[in-house]
Amino acid sequence: MNLQSSIRSLLELATLGAALGSGLIAGVFFAFSSFVMPALGRILPPQGIAAMQAINVVVLNRSFLGVFVGTAAACLVLGVAAVLNWSAPGAGLRLAASVCYLGGCFLVTRAGNIPLNDALAAVQPESAEGARVWLRYLVDWTLWNHVRAAASLAAAALFTLALLRQRALVGQLSAALLALSALAGCNANELHPIAPPGSSAPVTRLSELGVFEGDPAKQQPRAGFVAYDVNVALYADSAIKRRFVFVPEGTQVHTSGDRWELPVGAYLVKTFGFPVDARDPGRGERLIETRFLVKTPDGFVASTYVWNDAQTDATVSSGDLDVPVSWIDERGQSHDESFHVPGTSECASCHAGRALGWRSRQLDHAGTYADGTHDQIAHLAARGIIDRPPPAHAVLSDPFAGAPLAARARSYLDANCGHCHGAGGSAEDTGLYWDFEHTAPESLPLCRSFGLFGGPVLVSGQPEKSELIERMLANDSFSRMPRGPTRSADREGIALLSAWIASLTPAGCP
Ligand code: HEC
Ligand code: HEC
Repeated sequence: MNLQSSIRSLLELATLGAALGSGLIAGVFFAFSSFVMPALGRILPPQGIAAMQAINVVVLNRSFLGVFVGTAAACLVLGVAAVLNWSAPGAGLRLAASVCYLGGCFLVTRAGNIPLNDALAAVQPESAEGARVWLRYLVDWTLWNHVRAAASLAAAALFTLALLRQRALVGQLSAALLALSALAGCNANELHPIAPPGSSAPVTRLSELGVFEGDPAKQQPRAGFVAYDVNVALYADSAIKRRFVFVPEGTQVHTSGDRWELPVGAYLVKTFGFPVDARDPGRGERLIETRFLVKTPDGFVASTYVWNDAQTDATVSSGDLDVPVSWIDERGQSHDESFHVPGTSECASCHAGRALGWRSRQLDHAGTYADGTHDQIAHLAARGIIDRPPPAHAVLSDPFAGAPLAARARSYLDANCGHCHGAGGSAEDTGLYWDFEHTAPESLPLCRSFGLFGGPVLVSGQPEKSELIERMLANDSFSRMPRGPTRSADREGIALLSAWIASLTPAGCP
């Protein structure tokens, strides 16, 4: 966790504390307004005065003062933080809540109630002077008490709205729950060693799987495994990916719809690595993990094999680990980061039992292959992988090449968001679909708001007001979209989608 996100989590906890604290104080003052003061007003003044004097002495104890002053301190910090970081989600609400509590509750107590308490403390309960002070006290003190009860209740409500607006806390709580359930073994990542094609004996080393020929680090596929590529790869912290497919002798992939159907016994292989120096491919790559999806009669088995430091082999892993990577990008900038290998229980959050790249929209592209064909579909057909060319279909464009802006943005959304936000995906029940079909101009969710109190999802012409962009920029990995193992926001993707949103014609929402 970096400094910025630690500060953010602390501020979120302070917001939660201030919401609870001002709620508690509102409750205390509400009790006085609603029945304690009316009750004291019904008994004889000397008794009422004695009771109130006792209350005013006892109230100065640790628990009440702790909550009363502690909440004021939290408000002070939150108010200042909101002003300093005005663009943070919920900043306005946090400032308003702090002002409510500090002004309407803390200052009112100081300037209204405490002087009256002091005056009451100075009188003898039985005296005539006491009775006179008490009559004024009952009216004035109760009035100020109404004010601070209302102000602290308003502060509690505004802090709660700020929490809903920030949501990261909700995210952190959910992440903590997920971690707990993993500890309890409900959602544990498991080792899934897989067997080489044609065998049923699982192996723990990649070299024993017979996917690659010679030095496995060279990633040269053995006969039967065919390299392929997708039109739009999911953003993965700039990793390089290599993909391979294998289908058993006598079987083929059926291409009757947009999603292709893989035969039982098919292997899909994807290796993640980082270039040592992207300016000089000759310096090679540091491989991190090789993932597998193997089609069985019961669906896909997901597995990953993590590469050793010597890059001689990879060993089956349950994932959920951080591998340090150092590399130099095209601009010569060095990166010292860590790459997160997802736990094997995480694969399903995106895959949901499907291969994701095996679709006409992803595999249809031009390329030149050793067998002389000039597009990937013809190449896969020539190698016997697919049974026939697929029917007419949409094709995704490279989000960062020359296609028109809308086509690039919609392709990006389809490939990076559509596997969850689409039919059969894990975010299906949000009803917010980002697949190519649902981002045509007439289907865009232009008038939708996030939750009850959140901002609008997509404001045409105004990327900075769109929840979509805000969620992509989020610091915590739970709120950040696309949700997944990535550790950094996709700057290029955010720039692309911002430009696209800026280009949309404003919609008149009711
Ligand atoms: C954040 C979402 C996400 C997670 C988590 C994820 N994948 Fe994927 N995976 C994708 C997407 C999208 C594709 C298709 C695009 C591509 O190939 O780059 C894909 C492609 C693949 C492929 C190539 C075949 C295909 O589906 O097109 C394999 C194999 C694979 N993933 C295995 C795994 C395994 C094993 C895990 C868990 C250790 C995993 N993936 C976790 C999103 C994810
Ligand atoms: C691994 C699955 C997954 C991926 C990938 C993913 N999302 Fe989400 N998204 C979710 C889930 C689950 C929710 C609902 C819970 C929440 O709001 O955190 C959600 C919620 C959202 C919301 C708020 C929804 C609302 O109710 O208004 C937005 C906006 C959003 N996602 C945008 C995106 C964008 C844009 C991408 C791609 C850049 C993306 N998501 C990729 C799983 C995903």
